Amino acid sequence: MGAGPGLFNFSAYKDDGYTLTAMDTIKSYVMRGGRATKAQQYALETLSGKYCIPFNDTPLDFSTVFNNENPVTIEIGFGMGSATAEIACANPKKNYIGIEVFRAGIGRLLWEIERRSLNNVRIIEYDAVSAIEKMLPDCASSGGVEAFHIFFPDPWPKKKHNKRRLVKRPFTDMLSLKLKNGGYIYMVSDCEDYCNFALSELSATPALRNVYEKFAPAQEWRPLTKFEKKGLSHGSAIKELLFVK
Ligand SMILES: C[S@@+](CC[C@H](N)C(=O)[O-])C[C@H]1O[C@@H](n2cnc3c(N)ncnc32)[C@H](O)[C@@H]1O
Repeated sequence: MGAGPGLFNFSAYKDDGYTLTAMDTIKSYVMRGGRATKAQQYALETLSGKYCIPFNDTPLDFSTVFNNENPVTIEIGFGMGSATAEIACANPKKNYIGIEVFRAGIGRLLWEIERRSLNNVRIIEYDAVSAIEKMLPDCASSGGVEAFHIFFPDPWPKKKHNKRRLVKRPFTDMLSLKLKNGGYIYMVSDCEDYCNFALSELSATPALRNVYEKFAPAQEWRPLTKFEKKGLSHGSAIKELLFVK
């Protein structure tokens, strides 16, 4: 399945008195070239049916997807998925759904899921904005999700591209609607400007509360991601944000 239109029309949302009626569009990614290796291509061909959830515009029933009632974490833009697989492996009593548009990365994670026999990971190959809106139940309806993980989102550092950043309102309002009470959004980035921007957008989202005064200390349970390694090799500082509903 392709990544979908990438453009998104928000319908009206109500949350804690906040009403959004404006139409908003985000195209937060560019389709990366990086061809899938033979192993990744093989994984895409043979394992997608087992672990990928096709895009659909009706909310998922998580207990049917995972065959259990364990809490669900959504990872937006998992890249090559190495952190996803490690976190899922360390937390077998939790379920994980990774959303990504990068085919080679999806192939890589499929291969890793099979290699480690992980039965708590699924993948949605689609634009995360649309997938989250359409495929995740609102917390008010049937439960909602425990967490959103966003590791090194595309930074869009040029001012004219800032609007393509994912972690901004009203997207953060939509995330908060999908979160259970007590659920969290955890973002990590090496782009200082994006971190400051996301801090103010998340702080302005009515249903969310910053766990720390500003940035969070490094969360030790999080494995290093591919982009983090790149950032560190350039000497970039890593900043973390942790907000709860
Ligand atoms: C900078 S990379 C980081 C990858 C990984 N999290 C890491 O830390 O190594 C950002 C990833 O987010 C994905 N992405 C960005 N916007 C997306 C969207 N709207 N839907 C799905 N994936 C998206 C991109 O394809 C890319 O793989």
